[in-house]
Amino acid sequence: MLKSTGHIIGSIGINRDVEGNENYRNIGFVLRKQYWNQGLMTEALREAINHGHEVASAFSAAHEIGNTKSERILKKLGFQYVKTFKYKMPGGEEDPEENLYYVLPLRDPVDK
Ligand SMILES: CC(C)(COP(=O)(O)OP(=O)(O)OC[C@H]1O[C@@H](n2cnc3c(N)ncnc32)[C@H](O)[C@@H]1OP(=O)(O)O)[C@@H](O)C(=O)NCCC(=O)NCCS
Repeated sequence: MLKSTGHIIGSIGINRDVEGNENYRNIGFVLRKQYWNQGLMTEALREAINHGHEVASAFSAAHEIGNTKSERILKKLGFQYVKTFKYKMPGGEEDPEENLYYVLPLRDPVDK
């Protein structure tokens, strides 16, 4: 939500890890295009990461090859590239795009 207007301009979703790691949660994010490049998603993700230890031992994230904007944001926030994989969503296309998969361990608040 944009504080100045109260409008919902994007979302962050916390879901099951696509690789099946029990203690990980996948974090996905999307923002309306007119609000890109103002640092808004970086700010929102930092907040989610600060509270992440309440729900998981690590966040994972994935994006299609060539999504350099997402790649930059994830690396800036400390996510480590793990591997490239083909992710087929239930009911998705037969030959899915290759995705890059990242992990960010979440610190216990005691360590902060
Ligand atoms: C990925 C996505 C959410 C990025 O959102 P965003 O708010 O534009 O990202 P940010 O603004 O936080 O960061 C992008 C750039 O903004 C710039 N930026 C950061 N803070 C800024 C500020 N205060 N003022 C101006 N620009 C700023 C930075 O230069 C940054 O680029 P850099 O990392 O090369 O330096 C958006 O492009 C999107 O919705 N994409 C489609 C969905 C998607 O691909 N999701 C990811 C897969 S789950």
